[in-house]
Amino acid sequence: MSKLPIVDGIIDYIKEDNVPFSMPGHKNGRGFLTTEEGKKLYQSLIKGDITEVEGVDNLHNAESIIKESQELLRDLYGSYKSYFLVNGSTSGNLAMIFSCFNEGDKIIVERNCHRSVFNAIILKKLRPIYIKNIISKAYNAPFSIDMEHFLKIIDEHPEAKGIVVTYPNYYGICTDLKAVIKRAKEKNMLVLVDSAHGAHFGFSSELPESAVKLGADIVVMSAHKTLPSLTQSAYLHVGDNIDINKVNFYVSAFTSTSPSYMLMSTLDYARYFMETQGRQVFEECIKIANIYREKINSLQSFHILSREDIKKEFSGYNYDMDATRFVIHLDNNYSGHELLEYLRGRAVQCEMSDDSNVVLILSPFNIEQDYEKLYYALKQCPLEQLKTDFSRVLINDLPQTAMLPYEVMDKDSFQVEIDEAVGSISAASIVPYPPGVPIIMPGEIVDEEAINMIKYYLENNKSVLGVNSGKKILVIKE
Ligand SMILES: Cc1ncc(COP(=O)(O)O)c(C=O)c1O
Repeated sequence: MSKLPIVDGIIDYIKEDNVPFSMPGHKNGRGFLTTEEGKKLYQSLIKGDITEVEGVDNLHNAESIIKESQELLRDLYGSYKSYFLVNGSTSGNLAMIFSCFNEGDKIIVERNCHRSVFNAIILKKLRPIYIKNIISKAYNAPFSIDMEHFLKIIDEHPEAKGIVVTYPNYYGICTDLKAVIKRAKEKNMLVLVDSAHGAHFGFSSELPESAVKLGADIVVMSAHKTLPSLTQSAYLHVGDNIDINKVNFYVSAFTSTSPSYMLMSTLDYARYFMETQGRQVFEECIKIANIYREKINSLQSFHILSREDIKKEFSGYNYDMDATRFVIHLDNNYSGHELLEYLRGRAVQCEMSDDSNVVLILSPFNIEQDYEKLYYALKQCPLEQLKTDFSRVLINDLPQTAMLPYEVMDKDSFQVEIDEAVGSISAASIVPYPPGVPIIMPGEIVDEEAINMIKYYLENNKSVLGVNSGKKILVIKE
């Protein structure tokens, strides 16, 4: 057994020398090495791991260098005030939801939201109303929110205080945020955007517009996912109609009292890099991506989703797609998971897979050889090896709610066989992964349809979070 399991594990991974088509956005450090300023930062990163000593600033009360850097960030994105986050978009989602809503408020939220959004709903004791996600039959994956359902929900719940949307989702697919914001504003609702995957948006006309520019009231971005900054580093952008005192309090409350200068330095650098070169390098990145998109599309059984595919799927609304994300869709009976594993064996690291697709995150720091390696690996892929018992993503109607999610936390619960759970109130989220869209949320009533769905995913050997190995689920003791 190794004495340094983590250190050795990471060194072994580095030795594999995988082509980086996954997070973080700096792609194995390359993102810091394309400029003189970046090189200097790279060389002094560990020595720069200091705390708020004399002469530097304090993130919890920014008055000098951090303040100045945050103001530059604000100017670049066009917000009223911008913050550095060292605890990821996870802390940003918590801080934005806590700043915008009061205990007991009703809010409209995408069913397929990130767990930090759902945790905020529990901790702040909110009443969520869910918007369904569209499941694409053609691509067998969840594709952003169902606009018709959103419009119905917003009319049925005019007392809701706001809406929380993900823009884009993990597949790079963007809802028609402009239309969502317009409708929400007509109803005097706040629009909170989890744009964890969209920090690079708006830097090219080939990319979707930034959520800040589209007029969202408050926006979270994981800089580390698509820009040259370290894992865990993120931005929060706030509009002028939000109570800044509350945001100051909650951002601080959800942040370590020892914020890392390594993370903050790279947040400063990512902003500088985007300001000085963002447009040019992202346009070059999209150009090369488009060349390889065509090459890969010419191979049998692979198709990379395009803006046009998404627009066709969602005609009538202005849905969009991130041009720096490859979603490689496989013909019917080939498995995305098997392809991801095969590519890793060929030293190509992808971001994630589902039953029918593999997602890759591209960046200006991916060089032509990376794409060549991907292309040849796909070209030489023994398709027979990817064959699987195909399962189709199913989605149920939203179950009835018996309790609010936070009320569940104080109740006693027990495990019950799935078949015996009909009519019980769930004490946990039950989420087949993929696609990651919850079948049941805590406080919802387990109905026949939900049980059939859970069984379908289990029979197809999918992992279903919230179902234990004995095929039991947690329900409330009444
Ligand atoms: C949509 C979405 N929101 C928020 C997060 C959390 O981001 P972070 O890892 O920066 O905390 C993620 C993480 O993957 C995400 O996919």
